[in-house]
Amino acid sequence: MEKVQLTSEKFRLGYHVMAPYGWINDPNGFCYFKGYYHIFYQYYPYSENVGSPMHWGHARSKDLIHWETLPIALTPGDPEDKDGCFSGSAIVKDDTLYLIYTGHHLNDSDDSEDFWENQNIAYSTDGVHFTKYAQNPVIATPPADNTQHFRDPKVWQYKDVYYMILGSQSKDGLGRVILYKSKDLEQWSYLGEVDKSQDLIKEGFMWECPDLFKLNDQHVLLLSPQGIEPDNKRFLNLFQTGYFVGQFDYAQHHFNRQSCFRELDNGHDFYAAQTTTTPDGRNVLIGWMNMWENNMLEQEDGWSGALTLPRTLEIKNNHLYMNPIDTVKNLRLDSGHTLTLENDNTILSTEYRLFEAEVLLDIKAEDNIRLSLLTQTGTNLITLDFSGNKALFTLYRKDYDDYRYAQVAPTKELKLRIFVDKSSLEIFINDGEKCFTERYYYPDKPQLVLENTDNQPLSGSAKVYKLKGDAIQF
Ligand code: FRU
Repeated sequence: MEKVQLTSEKFRLGYHVMAPYGWINDPNGFCYFKGYYHIFYQYYPYSENVGSPMHWGHARSKDLIHWETLPIALTPGDPEDKDGCFSGSAIVKDDTLYLIYTGHHLNDSDDSEDFWENQNIAYSTDGVHFTKYAQNPVIATPPADNTQHFRDPKVWQYKDVYYMILGSQSKDGLGRVILYKSKDLEQWSYLGEVDKSQDLIKEGFMWECPDLFKLNDQHVLLLSPQGIEPDNKRFLNLFQTGYFVGQFDYAQHHFNRQSCFRELDNGHDFYAAQTTTTPDGRNVLIGWMNMWENNMLEQEDGWSGALTLPRTLEIKNNHLYMNPIDTVKNLRLDSGHTLTLENDNTILSTEYRLFEAEVLLDIKAEDNIRLSLLTQTGTNLITLDFSGNKALFTLYRKDYDDYRYAQVAPTKELKLRIFVDKSSLEIFINDGEKCFTERYYYPDKPQLVLENTDNQPLSGSAKVYKLKGDAIQF
């Protein structure tokens, strides 16, 4: 089969992980090994559209910001992963990097639900070349009360035991996370259900891409459920990525929830996020900066999909705060341009395709603030409105004619950190209390404008930095 060709660079991102060409979805195997952070991703190099079988693409970085593309790490087609190396994770053991992934297998029928899945491992001592384990699969079949949805292993070590959680669906049609343990990553025993959807339309029919980690003295169960129905201003994407906060009980193998399911990012383009812990103990998350069935206009140029900026996670009052990794500062090409806001309308940027804007605004209850991403001629691409009265953000996306929302705690000050890349926009609100991730498609320098829509003066300041556009090496 022929690899797909890039035909234009116009939407190619400057500082977000993407493939050299072809399709990508979920981040996989996020880890730190022998001096490098590694990220893998679901990759189909033969088309800009999602295709089968899925590979694992690969990139590495010293600072989580400058990435170097490496050869494809996992190529499907062996008996244990005949129709795809689906999502999974990575762990370091005995100076060796192990990838744990799902083997996807299609049965001989036209029904897309007619498949089966098993779990496999591959290993590498140099972090570049991977060998599939000769005795794969390490888990051949799901437990008896499971359907065929049995994928996306996340492995971690606690004391001298390795644990694996899997995204799955129980036979009653509800999503769940199940648990296995191992002493050596090769022999696994089943421990049961960690947590399960309590309602088909509120919590979903299938839980994809689970992750479980400790943050301060609590645990976070991160997952990407399918089937949650829209609820007023929440859960408006096709599928969501969100979390429960609670305690994971290693004796009972059970996650005890202390919060309801919350979306992690309120934008249109965020899914299948995965975390790793850095050597200095920070929890860092990276997500797919797209969503199944969304617009991906870069497909006309022979590629599709990217990963979000890496984001550090913190927890306060059962709420996850997500901020860009500190090394994002390595992208700044200048020491910033400070703007004083006085009028009701300020152009923050009009000269760059890649930039960062930091905005600090004094807010009165009656204020209505709007941040707009516009074309050079003033056509709206994305707007973000803030109502001081309601402490509510409303994002509008022109191409979909569609809204997304984020409620924040009442505040007298708004802090926005905005990252614009050649086809992406990430907005971090109030030190990570909320975040919107969006793709946009405009092949020129966009304008970023801040205004008070009631024509009242803006009070505050802003700083704009030009960012590097060559942080990804192919
Ligand atoms: C999530 C997902 C995973 C699966 C992968 C296949 O987006 O559906 O559950 O492993 O994508 O590419």
